[in-house]
Amino acid sequence: MFEKERFIQDCRDALKERDAQGAVQQLVEKAVSDPAGVIRALGEPSRSGVETIYRANDLTILNLCWGPRMDFKPHDHRIWAVIGIYTGREDNTFFRRKEGGLNRHGTKQLNVKDTARLGAEVIHAVVNPLDQITAAIHVYGGDFFATPRSEWNPVTFVEQPYDVADTLRAFEEANRRLGVPGAS
Ligand SMILES: [Fe+2]
Repeated sequence: MFEKERFIQDCRDALKERDAQGAVQQLVEKAVSDPAGVIRALGEPSRSGVETIYRANDLTILNLCWGPRMDFKPHDHRIWAVIGIYTGREDNTFFRRKEGGLNRHGTKQLNVKDTARLGAEVIHAVVNPLDQITAAIHVYGGDFFATPRSEWNPVTFVEQPYDVADTLRAFEEANRRLGVPGAS
């Protein structure tokens, strides 16, 4: 049974392992193996957005909800990540840098109970292909909000510093499409 405080402590302990990311992936796998348990603990997702469950210099845990049909620009993290889906589906496209832009080099579909580990150098774009919210636990091996990183224009693939305000706009736009009360 997923329990938030317990999960945070388990992730903190996992950081002491030699393969911290692998240890965290096992924890996320266990959590999303019981999606109903995660929903009981975190609440039924009702809007798109990012909820910070835990934030420290060496660890960030997010409850991330993609709005229906949300299409999120290519970006990197510069810290390792583990993602586990507990409702919906996300389609990842992976990229590699090339002179003046990006090359697509793979895709991965993540369904409920799936987890993925992303290396610190990974560049990906995410689409929620469904007409419902896709929700996932994201664990990062650092401070997700304080780590400077890049995003790429989805059309021109021009790199620029990650734009937090633009990200918030994308989530709010998704909420408008969802008809969430209070979405501006
Ligand atoms: Fe990402």
